[in-house]
Amino acid sequence: MSDNQEASDAEDTTPSESATLPLRPHSDRPTCNKTGVCSRSYFVVVMVFFHVYIINVIALLFYVHYNSGQEDTSQGRDAPSSNQQQPESPRPPSKPEFLRVSSLTRIEGIRVGHVQKVSLMQNKVHEMRTLSMKPLLFEIPGFLSDDECRVVMQLAQLKGLMESQLMVQEGQEELAKELNLSPDEIFNLLDINQDGQLQLHEILTHSRVRDGIWLTPENLREIYTGLKADKDGDGLLSLEEFRLLSNDAFQRFLLQRGVKKSQLVRNSRHTWLYQGKGAHQVLQDIKTKVTRLTRLPPSLVDLSEPLQVVRYEQGGHYHAHHDSGPVYPETACTHTRLAANTSTPFETSCRYITVLFYLNSVEGGGETAFPVADNRTYDEVSLIQNDVDLLDTRRNCDKSNLRVKPSKGTAVFWYNYLSDGKGWVGEQDEYALHGGCMVTQGTKWVANKWINIDPDYQRQARYQQLVSQQPEDDDEDLTLNQDTQSSDIHQDL
Ligand code: OGA
Ligand code: CA
Ligand code: CA
Ligand code: FE2
Repeated sequence: MSDNQEASDAEDTTPSESATLPLRPHSDRPTCNKTGVCSRSYFVVVMVFFHVYIINVIALLFYVHYNSGQEDTSQGRDAPSSNQQQPESPRPPSKPEFLRVSSLTRIEGIRVGHVQKVSLMQNKVHEMRTLSMKPLLFEIPGFLSDDECRVVMQLAQLKGLMESQLMVQEGQEELAKELNLSPDEIFNLLDINQDGQLQLHEILTHSRVRDGIWLTPENLREIYTGLKADKDGDGLLSLEEFRLLSNDAFQRFLLQRGVKKSQLVRNSRHTWLYQGKGAHQVLQDIKTKVTRLTRLPPSLVDLSEPLQVVRYEQGGHYHAHHDSGPVYPETACTHTRLAANTSTPFETSCRYITVLFYLNSVEGGGETAFPVADNRTYDEVSLIQNDVDLLDTRRNCDKSNLRVKPSKGTAVFWYNYLSDGKGWVGEQDEYALHGGCMVTQGTKWVANKWINIDPDYQRQARYQQLVSQQPEDDDEDLTLNQDTQSSDIHQDL
């Protein structure tokens, strides 16, 4: 409280009022003077502060009480989603467990290098080491046995693997046409720093999202020359130069010249293995271990995408990417879109967690790179600077902040989203950017288990309710049905 305030407080009390106050005890009080601390208004202010303080303490005690019981799922906490209403009826105790879960356990990293023991199966304790805090990333050696690795690779081969990325991605042009943007508008969108010129990195960032062909700065210069796009030869595209190019000029040029697999964002083959009832015991065991590792409700893991098994041949790679996109209010999740009331313009896979298993030890290369792990700051623009593109896992893995060497049976897992602070899924974690470095010798086998959770709590709950209602009388059939369902809706990236 400033001196001025104190003075004005004292002046609020007129001498006559103080004189008529009947309840003021005289005995053990210091003598009051006009500017003293025992004036009535001062007393009121102190009492107000005192009450506020007491209320705060009580609120804090409540907060601590409810937060310490994270795994006590029977606590009827408020749904942690944004501003949507609560379900109208109270949650009945006989319903499946997901309806009573409104808070997700998030494993604590403590610090890089911290090792914690985890119990994933009977008679064995695994060690889990924190590899980075941003993203929250862990490594668990020996998560899979040699036999489990072998079975997963064999099952994948039996099922057959398909190209992870087709040479040309149809549909992207459609989207551009649908949006109906003028060249000037596109230029403006691309010109990140708004200097009226397109620098190389401004084009590179964009082209990746658009057509899946990975451009290097050299490629781009080659295209400029081929198309005579950079008339004044300053290495930049001005609006005038840009206007002379057709919408798909770059792509047409590349396709004419031929695109090699090594020029795609991803160069691998993959397949999906279902893990529900009836699946090979090894696949079910892996799912159980993942549930224990992540300490998430089993129903959430059951309803997630099947296991993705990936094989990279020598020369294979996967440039740096996010496994799941950002979520805006209008963004829907692929897995819950059945339960969404409205159709939305954006959709992402809402992969809260990635568990990545190394099924073999790779002879050369093939590390998983996290270019910005534990960076002090994240700046999208500085990822591509001059001729160094940190997202390029064929060239610049050595410049990544963190690289994990594939080792047979090891699992790494990380959170692609932050917490919303209330125990549910929050914003995308930009630091979770990662990629597969080029395999320089031999082949590389990995598997991905993604755990899909909708950041919109109500939507996730509605979706689970919908699925659980399908086999009315038999809960045991749940996983089987869920898998059939997720096979229809999973996004095949
Ligand atoms: C993926 C992925 C990394 C790797 O499949 O999404 O990022 O090391 N893989 O293969
Ligand atoms: Ca610019
Ligand atoms: Ca120019
Ligand atoms: Fe990935």
